[in-house]
Amino acid sequence: MPPATDWTEQIAADEAERFARHAEVLAALQKKRGKVTVHRALHAKANLGVEARFEVLPDLPADARVGMFAEPKSYSAFVRFSNGAGRQQSDAKPDVRGIAVKVLGVGGKKVIPGMEDAKTQDFLAIRTASVPMRDADEFITLVRAADTPALLPFKLIRALGVRRALQIIKSVVAGFKVPMTSLASTTYYSALPMKYGPYAAKFALFPNDAATPLTGRDPTSIGDELVARLRERAVNYEFRVQFFVDATQTPIEDPTVEWKTDYITVARLTLPVQDPTSPRGKQIAEYVESLAFDPWHAGEELRPLGNMMRARNHAYRASTKARGAAAEPVEAPRFE
Ligand code: HEM
Repeated sequence: MPPATDWTEQIAADEAERFARHAEVLAALQKKRGKVTVHRALHAKANLGVEARFEVLPDLPADARVGMFAEPKSYSAFVRFSNGAGRQQSDAKPDVRGIAVKVLGVGGKKVIPGMEDAKTQDFLAIRTASVPMRDADEFITLVRAADTPALLPFKLIRALGVRRALQIIKSVVAGFKVPMTSLASTTYYSALPMKYGPYAAKFALFPNDAATPLTGRDPTSIGDELVARLRERAVNYEFRVQFFVDATQTPIEDPTVEWKTDYITVARLTLPVQDPTSPRGKQIAEYVESLAFDPWHAGEELRPLGNMMRARNHAYRASTKARGAAAEPVEAPRFE
């Protein structure tokens, strides 16, 4: 039986203005922290930026052959691993961890007005399959409160009430407690949905390396561990999608609910052997740092869905503009 197609988005009449204000809040925090160099408003610190390949696999089931997944093909890609905070801080601090993948040379019409002919498709993910915040309003409330960690609980209680604030704090702490493993053995989830042709889906990256606890407490221990692996051998992840089933099990607008539906592997992400500490590796990392990873860098068939995704449609462009990010690449530059 094909996946369900009766998913819907609920778009509030005033949400575009709210999301524009959220983007301003993030931009103000970004400006405040970026007195010397303006970094990303969130995920400011890269653990590592590397080159990669993204291969769409052959013989996919008919329902999975959508957009860039319609035909088997090998694409060049770049990957940035990051800590979630808006400031550059030690890897030893508890935080959200992200992966951002930019696939190059992807044909088809893209969704951002004025960028329809762009040749990139981005995938952004974190370590949890759901998030504690119900919507972008709660997300921004939490980000604002986290600007002064000591006051976070009080600020959250004032904004959301005791019950909801405590629920969110409990859930954030639980996410931080998921033991850190090597980035090569970390599973990453989109946590939010996207269109998948006529269907809706979430994606996840499942690592091929066996779980290896990360014990280092150095400020750069997370990236350093992956560097050591990549000097010796390639690191792979399976890129899998899971489909919307119904509004209860797989809600589009409520990201606090983890989708438990089956995954199908549609692609493979490979970080080939490379030395990120070499002059070439450093050039790549610098280039990756300049890029703009954005879930809305997407084909029409893979358009992001849901309240928090729509909020990201405002926030990412504001952040990338403020830091003067590079234009979308047409092809991978040559590194010496
Ligand atoms: C819950 C799902 C989310 C996930 C999985 C996610 C993931 C990520 C990742 C991995 C990055 C780093 C990208 C890079 O390496 O360049 C990032 C950056 C960022 N995120 Fe999110 N994010 C989420 C929600 C949001 C929301 C709701 C907002 C705001 C409304 C937001 C605003 C930002 C901003 C402003 C940046 C920096 C953009 C830049 O300057 O390049 N994110 N996010």
